[in-house]
Amino acid sequence: MESALASVPGTDPDFVQRLTRQLEATETRLADAVSISDEFVQWTARHLLNAGGKRIRPLIVLLAASFGDAERTEVIDAATLVELTHLASLYHDDVMDSAPTRRGTASAHEIWGNSVAILTGDFLFARASALSATLGARYSALHAHTFERLCLGQMHETVGPREGDDPFSHYLSVLSDKTASLLAIAGQLGALASGASEEVAETMREYGEKAGLAFQLADDVLDLRSDPSSSGKQAGTDLREGVPTMPTLLVRRRHADAPDERTADIVGRLDGDLSDDAALAELVDLLRADPAVEETAQMARDLVAEAIEILRALPDAPGRDALEALTTGLVDREV
Ligand code: IPE
Ligand code: IPE
Ligand code: MG
Ligand code: MG
Repeated sequence: MESALASVPGTDPDFVQRLTRQLEATETRLADAVSISDEFVQWTARHLLNAGGKRIRPLIVLLAASFGDAERTEVIDAATLVELTHLASLYHDDVMDSAPTRRGTASAHEIWGNSVAILTGDFLFARASALSATLGARYSALHAHTFERLCLGQMHETVGPREGDDPFSHYLSVLSDKTASLLAIAGQLGALASGASEEVAETMREYGEKAGLAFQLADDVLDLRSDPSSSGKQAGTDLREGVPTMPTLLVRRRHADAPDERTADIVGRLDGDLSDDAALAELVDLLRADPAVEETAQMARDLVAEAIEILRALPDAPGRDALEALTTGLVDREV
């Protein structure tokens, strides 16, 4: 799977070289952070780390650090911390979503069962907590707050909106908590770890909140449009599990407001039995051709424009240009 670094313009060779070196250093730190003498846990904990991933969150840390002293050791610690937390959340997410594949390989619960997958996620969260403690109390508190938001986002997605809640606002708050929270802390910690100003750290946090929403909406589109050989995930996973996504919410709203035969057919299938592979594939095809998918993609692009606007408050520097390119790449992606 392609690294996020590919989306960073290579105009300043020193800058790109610094990022490449620091991403490598982050990989080494990640391997150290999951290492344990227990051979079985070592195997399960390395499973998804070794399987790949885009490393978008560490890259955001490293780019945010370019507004201070990017060479501080805390910068690599922060990059490792956010990816480790993300990694842990993936083990749990695949159990909750019954996802068969992740990062192009079998998901952990497919291989070892739910308990081992959940416990491996917990182990990784413990290692992330230990790392945040070495960074200091403020980092630990920010990390704990993000972990709480991840849990609440997943919880609210699982239980759905309460009676009277607007499903769209509910959904957007789920995305903020389960996904944007990690991009936000990536930006904030990267700035803080480099000793950049509080103002820069706050701008990076706000940026991450916006970019994270765009990123997750793009993920909703990918769940329908993606080719599993490049995304490493099975198309339609959310549909099969009945996880609402922006395209399905839009289709349901159209069905409520102005029902037509085609929309009724899709809603009927969404509420029907999707355990059969052919039934799921048919629904994915129907949705792919539905304007709701393009509408979702457009929402993601609008949020990208808003995220880029937030970046304008930052000093004009290679880090800012690279963040802008990365942000555009968050939605124009195949993986
Ligand atoms: C997947 O994140 C989970 C979401 C929040 C959509 P990524 O798309 O960044 O996954 P990897 O790290 O590249 O595998
Ligand atoms: C992932 O959400 C969010 C977390 C892991 C906290 P999704 O379930 O939408 O992401 P994918 O599509 O499985 O990567
Ligand atoms: Mg999932
Ligand atoms: Mg999920």
